This record gives sequence, C-alpha cells and structure tokens, in this order.
Amino acid sequence: MTDENIIISKGLEGIYIADTTLCKIDGANGKLWYRGYPIEVLADKSSYEEVAFLLLYGHLPKKEELKVFTQRLISERDVPDSIADIIRNFTGRTHPNDILRTCVSAISAFDTDMADRSSDANMDRAIKLTAKMPTIVAMIGRYRQGKPFINPSRTLSHSSNFLYMLTGVEPDKESAKLIDLMFILHAEHGSNASTFSTLVTGSTLADVYAAVVAGISTLRGPLHGGADEAALNMMRAIGEPDNTETYIEDALAGKQRIMGFGHRVYKAYDPRAKIVYNYLKSFMQKTTDPKIEKLLEIAIRAEKLMEEKLSKTKGIWPNIDFFSGPLYTAMGIPSELFTPVFACSRVVGWTAHLFEYWENNRLFRPLDHYTGQLDIKYVPIEQR
Ligand code: ACO
Repeated sequence: MTDENIIISKGLEGIYIADTTLCKIDGANGKLWYRGYPIEVLADKSSYEEVAFLLLYGHLPKKEELKVFTQRLISERDVPDSIADIIRNFTGRTHPNDILRTCVSAISAFDTDMADRSSDANMDRAIKLTAKMPTIVAMIGRYRQGKPFINPSRTLSHSSNFLYMLTGVEPDKESAKLIDLMFILHAEHGSNASTFSTLVTGSTLADVYAAVVAGISTLRGPLHGGADEAALNMMRAIGEPDNTETYIEDALAGKQRIMGFGHRVYKAYDPRAKIVYNYLKSFMQKTTDPKIEKLLEIAIRAEKLMEEKLSKTKGIWPNIDFFSGPLYTAMGIPSELFTPVFACSRVVGWTAHLFEYWENNRLFRPLDHYTGQLDIKYVPIEQR
C-alpha cells in the first residue's frame, strides 16, 4: 500500500473489531441491549447476579442455575489476608482505582494452576474476580476512612453486600434497589476503551487477571470511567444550585468539556443515563439531606442547560456518568470510589467479551504510519 492510500482511524472510530452477541448499542436512537434484552427491562426486572450470569453464560439463568451462581459468588467474597496488607501499605495519595488494580494483580498469585487455560478454569477466574473485587473496593474505602474492615455478609445480595461492607449498614430496600441498578447499568457496554484494552491484552494469550488489570487501568481516565468522579467534582465546584448556569456557560465559553456529557457512540440520550435520571428525580423528592438535595438540583439544572446549549445542536447528551455521582453520594460512596465501583460491575462485561473473543482469537496488531526520516547518519555521542 502506498502512503497516499493510508487511512488513519484515530481512536479507531467507526472500526469494527469483532462479532459479538453480548451487547448491541444503537447510538443514533439511544438504545441498548444486553444479549438481546433491552436495558430498561433488565434494569426494572432483573438483579446484578442474573445479569452477570446472562453476560457470562449467554442466557438468563433458570432458578436453580441462579441459586448455584449466587452461592458461588457468596462463597468467593473473602480475599486473602495479604490483600489487606497491600491496602494498608498504600497512603491516602494513591487513587483507589490504582490500589484495586494492584490488588487484582496480586490475586493472581493465589491461583493454584495458572497453566490451566481451559474454559472452565477461566470462568472460575471471572467468577472469583467478580466476587472479590467489591470486597477489595469496600476494604479500600474503609481503610481510607480509618475504619476497620467488615467481613462479607453471607446473606445479602452481591451489590447490597458491597454497600454493607463499605458503610457498615445493611442498605434499606430503596438503596438496595438503587445500588443494584447501578451495577446492572455498568455491567457491559460493547467495545469501549476498557473492554478493548482487555481484549488487546487477552489477544496475546495473556491470562484473565492480566486482561482485567488492563481493563481496570483503562477505566480510570476521565474520558471513560473516571468521568463520574470528575462530574461530581464539577458539581461540588459549582457549590450552589444558583451558580449552575453561570459555571457551565463559562466552562463552555472557555472550551472546557463538561464531564459526564458526550459519547463516541451515542448521539442521542444514553438510555442508561435516562434510567438513572428518572431515579434521581424521584430520589430528589424524598431526600432530606440538604447537601444531597443541592447536588441533585445542580445535576438537574446542568442537564437542562446542556440540552439547550449542546444536546440538540451537537448531539452531546448526558452519559451514565453524569447522574451517578449524586446518587452514589446519597448512598455513602465517596467520589474516589466511583471508578472502582464501576470496575466491580464491568468485570463481567470484560471477561465475557474476552471469552467470546478467545473462541476465535486473533492477535491485535494494528499499523502506524511512519512520518519521520529514514537512513539518518549515526553521529557518535562525542560529536553530537
Ligand atoms: N463537553 C463539551 N463539549 C464536548 C463534550 C463535552 N463533554 N464532549 C464532546 N464535546 C465536543 C468537542 O469539543 C467537539 O467539539 P468541536 O467539534 O467543536 O471540536 C465535539 O463535541 C466532538 O467531540 P469529540 O472529542 O471528537 O468526540 P469523541 O467521540 O471523541 O468524544 C468523549 C467522546 C471522549 C466521551 C467526549 O464526549 C468527552 O470528552 N466527554 C466528557 C468525558 C465523559 O463524560 N466521558 C464518559 C463517557 S461514558 C463512559 O465512558 C462510561
């Protein structure tokens, strides 16, 4: 191919990398399906355990299958003592997502047969990571607050147990539904940046842990999973609801990006954000905490202004990360844990994609277009 014919797809925009039966995103119309099921239906009727099973095994579980899967997750909630030591060795300066990535890496040392790359062994690893990551994130959160670790419950659901281990309080019905909803909505989303990096790592036939660590690392940036933390920081910087419009207008005039808005694939309202927004509005009517009330009002006013300014004209709508922050805050989750919580949910999407890709694996090896000089004369260091 001559240089003139080379087409560079920056950010791999518009490039398909694989066939999948995991997830369909209709970006133009703001629609999303997991394994063919509309996200609205799963959000309303399902549980995270059921969605995790659906993503990993390809079908909705029968009663007995769900019981066995749920028990399996519960039995894997504990983490080795050395994970606690690792967490204690980090200072408060280290971001919890970076601590999570290190702990997941360390978990691989407890795999007794890394040479076993069978599908069963890999599924076992995915289930273990799904079960243990919330425990690790809750421990990180407790340690940062100077509080003792809490042992996992054997009765609470996957997501409720996470909240319990973090806050020390068993969530009420409403919080339990809300945290489960957030876990469901974050579980899967096609070939986003973190899933893609999981696949790139996996395509070298590196192991499940390495691929998940790549996913966690990639999720961290504010253009991807870090946007929820950045969006909440912006809401805190706005401070008072009456400052919202001026703050956003000034930011847009200064060509700043409003975190939690925009998406590479959605050019319509992110359906996950729509679901969260509806919860947020009903939550607003019930909350009595003035700090939460303010955050919720800022979020709602910002959404309205952005709709007038950018959504309809440029297709920049809120994404799921915009509304997550106020709700997580209401549930007692500190902002620096938002991205690791996202990772706890997304791990099933990452591993399900990895297993699907491995069925027909091909090493990722794109090309880059060299624009430098060639055959430059080497000058010895003394003469440079
Ligand atoms: N605020 C203001 N303007 C924006 C925003 C935003 N959040 N997002 C995009 N734009 C503008 C760009 O400035 C650009 O304008 P221009 O054409 O006048 O230069 C135009 O929209 C297109 O932007 P691109 O960066 O080309 O779009 P891309 O597809 O690369 O961006 C991205 C997607 C990275 C998510 C972007 O919308 C963004 O930075 N959003 C904020 C971060 C964020 O919320 N990320 C989370 C995404 S969801 C997730 O990963 C879970």
